[in-house]
Amino acid sequence: MSSVPGARLEKVGPDNLARFGFGCLTNPKNIGFQPKVVWLQARFAEGLRLLLFRDDQDHPLAFLEYTPGEYAWRPVEANGWFFVHCLWVYSKGQKLGGLGLRLIDACVEEARKAGALGVAAMTSDGPWMVGKQVFIKRGFEVVARASRFELVVLRLRPGPAPRFREVGKRPAGRRGLEIVYSAQCPMLPKSVLDLSEIAAGLGLKLKVTQLKSAREAQAAPSLYGVFSLLWNGRLLADHYVSGTRFRNILREEGIGQPKRPRAGPKESGDADRRPARRNPSVSV
Ligand SMILES: CC(C)(COP(=O)(O)OP(=O)(O)OC[C@H]1O[C@@H](n2cnc3c(N)ncnc32)[C@H](O)[C@@H]1OP(=O)(O)O)[C@@H](O)C(=O)NCCC(=O)NCCS
Repeated sequence: MSSVPGARLEKVGPDNLARFGFGCLTNPKNIGFQPKVVWLQARFAEGLRLLLFRDDQDHPLAFLEYTPGEYAWRPVEANGWFFVHCLWVYSKGQKLGGLGLRLIDACVEEARKAGALGVAAMTSDGPWMVGKQVFIKRGFEVVARASRFELVVLRLRPGPAPRFREVGKRPAGRRGLEIVYSAQCPMLPKSVLDLSEIAAGLGLKLKVTQLKSAREAQAAPSLYGVFSLLWNGRLLADHYVSGTRFRNILREEGIGQPKRPRAGPKESGDADRRPARRNPSVSV
């Protein structure tokens, strides 16, 4: 594959994952590492590949993860397209200049060879997602917008454009505090563990559901798809949440907070001595 001075580009699949790794995590002891390896091994059979730039010491500099649109782990309909899950050039790679554009070029080349309709990506100016500018620079155009996200595409052949699927419907069965996530992003298991511990420490029940297939991810409760923090089915966060942010969200939403004592007559002494009740719809 093509290369730039100081960086080599590899296409990572089932045969060389152990040798090259997947880029954004290099420490196998990180809690998100092994789940991502297992997730990738299953996805490779669906056509997912990583394009990875490494430096002369084999350290990762940048990567792009793409998959046939049928198997996109985002709530999109992109059959026939190549879909970019993630593009990330680390600060060391950014100093070289041009790696982001080269990764996009390489992905377009792969899509052309595979006879795909084109390449699509979800972008956002918000956190944990690449902004659209680098794609626009390569001739991509925005075909859909929803919430903080855009769908950008570079068309290679005629065919239906990708679109967002509908999210935000609140299934009647969703109650309480819940995280729906996937190991697609290897940073997420750490967030899920941290939030579970905080919730347990607060006496809150936190249901954790792991997405098992692209089909499930395409029906996810948030457009980001692979992380949703929900309260009674309502979306509270659609990306990695730190412990501090989680506590703030709980406080802002009044989840698990002691109820304010009602103003009442002074002589209701018994009620005053009772422990403060927590939100009754939270399992404690
Ligand atoms: C956006 C990004 C891919 C660009 O990679 P790069 O190798 O530095 O960029 P290149 O040199 O190949 O391309 C340059 C073009 O990319 C765009 N670009 C570069 N850095 C950018 C930035 N910080 N913000 C927005 N656009 C940027 C511009 O269009 C730029 O062209 P210009 O300089 O003529 O305006 C890189 O900054 C990045 O990975 N950012 C983080 C993305 C992210 O959060 N991914 C998800 C992680 S989970």
